[in-house]
Amino acid sequence: MALSVFELRKFVVPEFIFGVGAIDLAGQYAENFGAKKVLIVTDPGIIKSGWLEPVVKSLDNHSLPYVVFQDVHSNPRDYEVMAGASVYLANGCNVLVAVGGGSPIDCAKGIGIVAANNCQIADFEGVDRVTRAIPPLICIPTTAGSSADVSQFTIIADSMRKTKMAIVSKTLVPDVALIDPGTLITMPAYLTACTGMDALCHAIEAFVSQACSPLTDLHALKAVELLSKYLPLSVSYPENLEYRSYTMLGSLSAGMAFSNAILGAVHALAHSLGGMFDLPHGECNAILLKHVMAYNFSACRDAYEKIGEAMGLSLKDLPASQREMLILSTIDSFREQLGITKTLGDIGITETDISRLAINASVDPCLATNPRVPTLKELEEIFRHAL
Ligand SMILES: [Fe+2]
Repeated sequence: MALSVFELRKFVVPEFIFGVGAIDLAGQYAENFGAKKVLIVTDPGIIKSGWLEPVVKSLDNHSLPYVVFQDVHSNPRDYEVMAGASVYLANGCNVLVAVGGGSPIDCAKGIGIVAANNCQIADFEGVDRVTRAIPPLICIPTTAGSSADVSQFTIIADSMRKTKMAIVSKTLVPDVALIDPGTLITMPAYLTACTGMDALCHAIEAFVSQACSPLTDLHALKAVELLSKYLPLSVSYPENLEYRSYTMLGSLSAGMAFSNAILGAVHALAHSLGGMFDLPHGECNAILLKHVMAYNFSACRDAYEKIGEAMGLSLKDLPASQREMLILSTIDSFREQLGITKTLGDIGITETDISRLAINASVDPCLATNPRVPTLKELEEIFRHAL
């Protein structure tokens, strides 16, 4: 049951700087945090796009030495976290700077956990299991989607179990996020679409979460409004800074909402898919969203109608069944309009995978806040609809 407006609630967000040029403040913040040596966590794609350069320049301007760790896949693996922690400790680093999408940021959080707690990353899976605070962490997101730069989550792939571990802890909230919409202009259209759909899923799942509150609702609904208007424009006009900035603002709002309200079945199922088949997180979410909403609809009809209205639908004169159909078809056409047209079958998932996918999804912590509690059979059915 959602909290009413007079009940106690906690809302955790980091300090953040939002705006073009925020990336140039990396050196200033590292100095403020007492940096002696910085570990920069990034990936080869970001280096190729040119976004490591301003970070390095900013550190140089403050005479701060650094080491670059770039061995990070999308869906960062447990062994990459352990390797990064070894580099951090071997070089005597004391501050982390993550530059990139959700993968380098999640990896940097994992490196921080391992470096501070001297354990295997898998030891921290679950909620509130990180005991010792991670080193100062500066996050510079280069996608408008994951919101790992403001969240208390990290998602790490368990390479042995072929599943994803969700680690949720207040200690994972970064010390500062330098959110620079200028970094988005190099993002290709399909990546813009998938990461933006991830953000939309964050907003929708937070708004109907069993842990939502009036504070998270404010941000979630605003995020739906901003993303539904500006994400398609960002895909069509990649170099327009105004469209990119509003998309980034939508992603930030969704991030503040979901980090505090947690998520739901879309993410539980997407984590299962991503862990088993190493698929892009945003693409999985985009494919699953409508099917999870169809399953959840009876449990959160009013909230979904508010989401439909935030997307610009006029629902008030329609009967309930038509409102439901219109909202679901709008979600579907929004995804298609962004160029995401695949089904799970198209990306290689078959009927024989469904049982294992559903079992892995059933133990994901994100499922606990979904508005309906699905059985294993129901999880299988949702996957089957998305094939
Ligand atoms: Fe996500």
